[in-house]
Amino acid sequence: MAVPVLIDTDMGVDDALAICLALASERLDVRAIVSVGGNVDAEQATANIGRLLAAVQPDARPAVGRGLDQEGDDLLNARWLFGQDGLGGANLPKPGDQFQPRNFRDVYADAIDTHGEDLVVVAIGPLSNVAALQREDPERYGRIGRIIMMGGAVFVPGNVQRTAEFNFYRDAAAAAEVLGSGQKITLVPLDVTEKVALDDSHVGHFGAANTALGPLLAEMMSFPMAHARPEEHGRFIVHDAVAVGALLWPELFMHTRVCLVVDTVGRPAGKTTPAKTQNKSRLISMILSVNASTYLERLMDVLCHERFHV
Ligand code: RIB
Ligand code: CA
Repeated sequence: MAVPVLIDTDMGVDDALAICLALASERLDVRAIVSVGGNVDAEQATANIGRLLAAVQPDARPAVGRGLDQEGDDLLNARWLFGQDGLGGANLPKPGDQFQPRNFRDVYADAIDTHGEDLVVVAIGPLSNVAALQREDPERYGRIGRIIMMGGAVFVPGNVQRTAEFNFYRDAAAAAEVLGSGQKITLVPLDVTEKVALDDSHVGHFGAANTALGPLLAEMMSFPMAHARPEEHGRFIVHDAVAVGALLWPELFMHTRVCLVVDTVGRPAGKTTPAKTQNKSRLISMILSVNASTYLERLMDVLCHERFHV
């Protein structure tokens, strides 16, 4: 029985790759995709969901939700890495007529009311929507089966500040609220995701795949591959796809139980540190390591699968 999934995403290129992995896998049933501001603003992220679905044409179309942007004028984004549109300027079709994004609260409510504790929320952007749901509708929030989230840098330097990872930095208060909510959480931090990167040979493989998906992924990835920081040049870190992988292939990952706190003000905003607690409900599962070579092998197999062949 496929696992029902709601993906909450800020729709950069690594989000798109993660969503393609989830859509292509027979073991997941992507029931909904909800946008959030982050890599690009929520409006662009919503449009990107429509563009990706129009390109991939999955058998069962997920519901689409329009989520929140964060407050503030000079918000950090990732257009420098993912291009002005967030998807590397790839030539994707416009969302089709059946693309009808709804308020994210309604999309979450339908998914939770339908699937209850079978539902897994995969949060691969800032946690603004998830925190809003927890504040506004705690009863429904409590019925979600599990939240797998990509975010935080615990024992490694951050990627936007020395001490902060992008998703947690962009909405540190939301990260602190969700991590302290007592929900069943699996955190996939930068400590693990930065160890899983595609390189030019993988991009070449995508480009040569005779599926609709392969060349599309190669086109989206060329911008970030060319604009990555010097220390990441030639590497495309698949942060968000690792979070989907933790759901698909748990046997490839090592976990620990930990209580984490997130700084929410000033320069350390988003800083994520382990804390002692007597309150067992504060303990979450944090992924410590991954078998990266087997993960990449399986990722390439699924993404170059004939399923999307046209
Ligand atoms: O720090 C990496 C995370 O920030 C990824 O989710 C990427 O898409 C950006 O949202
Ligand atoms: Ca993301």
